[in-house]
Amino acid sequence: MKVLVLNGPNLGRLDIRDSSIYGDMTYPALVSHIEGAAKTHGFDADVRQSNDEAEIIGWLHEAADTNTPVIINPAAFTHYSYAIRDAAELVKAPLIEVHLSNPLAREEFRHTSVISGVANGTIGGFGPNSYVLALIALKALVA
Ligand code: DQA
Repeated sequence: MKVLVLNGPNLGRLDIRDSSIYGDMTYPALVSHIEGAAKTHGFDADVRQSNDEAEIIGWLHEAADTNTPVIINPAAFTHYSYAIRDAAELVKAPLIEVHLSNPLAREEFRHTSVISGVANGTIGGFGPNSYVLALIALKALVA
């Protein structure tokens, strides 16, 4: 089964982001990590990253139209993009929100997620394994 794994702004530059928060895995290594874990759990992961809100919304429309499950790290859009929230709500297949860091343990503006309310669940704080845990949760949801 296909899963769309969508990553928001600045995640493509993990190589230069604060490694004490995001770890030291580069974005290409993260993609390999996700693809490998997806295979292990019986999924074919289509992993994408964009800094552009409109592009992410288009990908969510694609997931809605093709009934494809989604794992999404909306990055900073998590905290304020009602447009991404509304697009995520259109996805009727399972949709899981993930974060590398634990936003609730960070600055106050990160304590709000406008996406969580339309996600099946949220996983954060486990670095690249947040995505692996999301794949395991997804497997149970689609079983
Ligand atoms: C993030 C957390 C967000 O607050 C932040 O803006 C990001 C990454 C995470 O994966 O920990 O860019 O979504």
